[in-house]
Amino acid sequence: MITNSSDQCTRQRAPTSITMKPAAARSPWLALAIVLSLCLSLSFASWDAEDEGRGSRRWQEGGDEGRSGESGRPYHFGEESYREWAKSRHGHFKVLKRFDHELIRGSIGDYRVACLDAAPRAFLQPSHYDADEIAYVREGEGVVVLLRNGKRESLCVREGDVFVIPAGSIVYSANTHRSKWFRVVMLLNPVSTPGSFQEFFPIGYGGEQQPESFFSVFSDEVIRAAFNTRRREDVDRVFKRNSRGEGEISEASEEQIRELSRSCSRGGRGGGGGGGGGSGSEKEDIRPRSLTGEKPRYSNKHGRLHQITGDQCPHLRNLDLDVNLVNITRGSMTALRYTTRATKIVVVVEAGNDGNYFEMACPHLSSSGRSERRERGRSEEQGGQEEEKGHGGEQEKSRGYRQVRAEIKVGSVIVLPAGHPATFVAGNEGNLALLSFGVGANNDEEVFMTGGNSALKQLDEAAKALAFPQQVRELADKVIRAQTEAVFHDGPQQQRRAFFDM
Ligand SMILES: *[C@@H]1O[C@H](CO)[C@@H](O)[C@H](O)[C@H]1NC(C)=O
Repeated sequence: MITNSSDQCTRQRAPTSITMKPAAARSPWLALAIVLSLCLSLSFASWDAEDEGRGSRRWQEGGDEGRSGESGRPYHFGEESYREWAKSRHGHFKVLKRFDHELIRGSIGDYRVACLDAAPRAFLQPSHYDADEIAYVREGEGVVVLLRNGKRESLCVREGDVFVIPAGSIVYSANTHRSKWFRVVMLLNPVSTPGSFQEFFPIGYGGEQQPESFFSVFSDEVIRAAFNTRRREDVDRVFKRNSRGEGEISEASEEQIRELSRSCSRGGRGGGGGGGGGSGSEKEDIRPRSLTGEKPRYSNKHGRLHQITGDQCPHLRNLDLDVNLVNITRGSMTALRYTTRATKIVVVVEAGNDGNYFEMACPHLSSSGRSERRERGRSEEQGGQEEEKGHGGEQEKSRGYRQVRAEIKVGSVIVLPAGHPATFVAGNEGNLALLSFGVGANNDEEVFMTGGNSALKQLDEAAKALAFPQQVRELADKVIRAQTEAVFHDGPQQQRRAFFDM
């Protein structure tokens, strides 16, 4: 059994120090950039005086200091935030570090993001997790076999599919393609320890780094009785440190792949055909669904939004999750929007090489941060402990917002908390496709603040008269209505070009 080493180290240290310590050693400027990018109020951050006057905050990515992957904290995670969970010649399984920053821990700290990359014909040995897995096939095709409820269910899955593996199911899977890799992005919902999960193997594998069989820890008397044998050695020879293959990710022959996929279906188990649509049979239904194959929920020439919600998939409803795929056309962007309840965990699954980024308004870093420090003169004794802020203490109103911004690429993870207005911009080199898991999705709604369906268009005349000064009333209407495209529209560069052409 593998222990989750990344868990252990993150738990022992303060969240900010993990990343800052090594970086600070390398370059004080880099450290400063990281500090500025934190959505925390740190007294030594230097603000742009002009911005401060308007009650808004902004930090500039300056040259190298603003390296992507280092910015946008704690809402952005780059490649360096993944840890290897299992690895062999035939593939690897990477897990993103915990969402343990105080600003996001409360909403999504219990969940983990992971990515599987399996080489052609790779085989993942049987095991079970103490976590539900919600998986999206980013590339390739495979067969996923679940042993649960006394049955065996084989699912054929392919690019664009979403499927759920309920916690505790014994699963084995294989890449069924001869030459393409099978790549899966998943969200894990641990059921025993929030934010931390384990994998359990009935069969152990050769090599020091390889998992052991959980049978091996039981006493001789228990094993003999449980297997109804007099010889513990027989049981050990079967399950313990099996030298077959190369461990938890090995390779199957073409014939074995054919055999594994022979009985696989896309139907899951419909529930015996007895009518009534009883929730019992629906619950059993684990068929994969194509996220991209169905009609998009919203689409124009600047992008498409695909969605699978609890309405289509009871498992997702039970988990209070949904899965979205936003595919933004190169050079376009999403209108400024926020969610009413859900926190979105966004994974970049497709992107051109350059020019992709997100921006978000973050209220947590406010002017109150500094005055708070001054007021609490006695806080000396607490040293530099920001731990306290943001939870526990008195609620403070933030009087300003900070811009959180980061360059993003394939594999980047972005967290958009409920209520925080945000946008994604696709560079000119390719489409930007974002897979997002909505946590707390069941009664969620997306609210647009710009574009054709902007909520601001609903303001009534009396409110407008009260909210806007007399002299800008007309202008306000014009500004609010100027962007006619909804949800997706021209990005900054396309828009600039359009204005020059006029
Ligand atoms: C995004 O859209 C483009 C253009 O239609 C398509 O080629 C690409 O496969 C889509 N990406 C995903 C992840 O669906």
